[in-house]
Amino acid sequence: CRIRHYKFNVVMKSTTRLCSTKPIVTVNGQFPGPTLYAREDDNVLVKVVNNVKYNVTIHWHGIRQLRTGWSDGPAYITQCPIQPGQSYVYNFTVTGQRGTLLWHAHILWLRATVHGALVILPKLGVPYPFPKPDKEIVVVLAEWWKSDTEAVINQALQGGLAPNVSDAHTINGHPGPIANCSSEGGFKLPAQSGKTYLLRIINAALNEELFFKIAGHQLTVVEVDATYVKPVKLDTIVIAPGQTTNVLLNANKNSGKYLVAASPFMDSPIAVDNLTATATLHYSGTLSTASTTLTIPPPQNATAVANKFINSLRSLNSKKYPAKVPLKVDHKLFFTVGLGINPCPTCKAGNGSRVVASINNVTFVMPTTALLQAHYFNINGVFTPNFPGNPPHVFNYTGTPPSNLQTTSGTKVYRLSYNSTVELVLQDTGIIAPENHPVHLHGFNFYAVGRGLGNYNPKTDPKKFNLVDPVERNTIGVPTGGWVAIRFRADNPGVWFMHCHLEVHTTWGLKMAFLVDNGKGPNQSLLPPPSDLPKC
Ligand code: C2O
Repeated sequence: CRIRHYKFNVVMKSTTRLCSTKPIVTVNGQFPGPTLYAREDDNVLVKVVNNVKYNVTIHWHGIRQLRTGWSDGPAYITQCPIQPGQSYVYNFTVTGQRGTLLWHAHILWLRATVHGALVILPKLGVPYPFPKPDKEIVVVLAEWWKSDTEAVINQALQGGLAPNVSDAHTINGHPGPIANCSSEGGFKLPAQSGKTYLLRIINAALNEELFFKIAGHQLTVVEVDATYVKPVKLDTIVIAPGQTTNVLLNANKNSGKYLVAASPFMDSPIAVDNLTATATLHYSGTLSTASTTLTIPPPQNATAVANKFINSLRSLNSKKYPAKVPLKVDHKLFFTVGLGINPCPTCKAGNGSRVVASINNVTFVMPTTALLQAHYFNINGVFTPNFPGNPPHVFNYTGTPPSNLQTTSGTKVYRLSYNSTVELVLQDTGIIAPENHPVHLHGFNFYAVGRGLGNYNPKTDPKKFNLVDPVERNTIGVPTGGWVAIRFRADNPGVWFMHCHLEVHTTWGLKMAFLVDNGKGPNQSLLPPPSDLPKC
């Protein structure tokens, strides 16, 4: 393994999409940002220099950060922001991980434009557990707003029911020719007949789960969230914000142009950008004036299409890549995730009330000192270790919603001892409306052992858990009106954020943190903070 040095210059860059130009925050002037390459077990050092007027942090989404929580990136959780004119070196080792992940800004909604691919190749000489592709192509899905991102954030902070939705989805930075601006060319995916391509697909969108489909071609899924899966062949995949999916694409046509489509699955029914982003799979030798073979993306709420994909995923669970599902559980946790309504006399929108989001009815309040610092330096009064392991009232999804939709608030963490095992059931409350919540856990991969609709039944559902080859992920969609059960081992000391990866729900408070104590053995403690760690 080796050391990889990167420099991320955070700069404004005037960028044109949908026929209009506006300055956006970027890394090195690129949208999407640069792809960061490393190999398994490499040490990666990224110097982030903040040359914009906003506070910045960068998160390496899915990197476990074993003992190096200081480099994880969520603002006020593991670090104070990098202030304008300041810099910080993120320094981490990619221990035992390989595959596609993403990096993104982790403060307010800055990741709208500050994101990119993180590609971890296997160790030199170690092959993929699937046929070697002829070429690899990164495909970053995201969103584009015509209005200023700052205005979009401020609207979300108001907690009105209708956050500003994006004006287009994008594929590698471009909405594609279907969007209302014909001068938009769109991303061209070059193909040669007979070759196999590995597409590293990333959903970096702020607020939307997306379907991804290519006209006339099947996709063989081989990896999700940088963990290998048993190959499955489908024509449509679904991918939530924060998730990644590697597929093999067999270019089995002689020639032609084929439409690549990224369209919304669903999020809260409140407001969704309906536009489909498009790109073109273009076989070499095909004239650019040739007509494109079109495809019809699934309709917005095509739950069956999504379920087909989600339910088909299994860990590869081979000798070399075994699934290590915890069989014995130390902490059995049940968290409800959903939206509520709190009074807000000062809110401009919403007639004296505002939408909030919560886990176990606690709306998380961001601290002003980073939790990891408070933990490491024993600073009192920043957080309390009393996050509830169960909801305050017995939860019944199919029953009458509680008349009181208010949540409580606080900066609470749930404490875990080193190496203890956790089973966590995440149940969508759907009190205001059914919602889909892609929940992301920092610092760990987990196994998705169960999933169902309606109320989770603690007596019967565990009997159906897959403890043999469940898919391993870092971000999981809690289905609308349903639940998922995950298991993980708390073998990473530090403070680890868990939140909905729909940025609007995070803003409203759908977030919490786990505090994992140090172990007693060697190499079982959080390392000391680096000297350039930003101050609040
Ligand atoms: Cu990809 Cu906490 O985020």
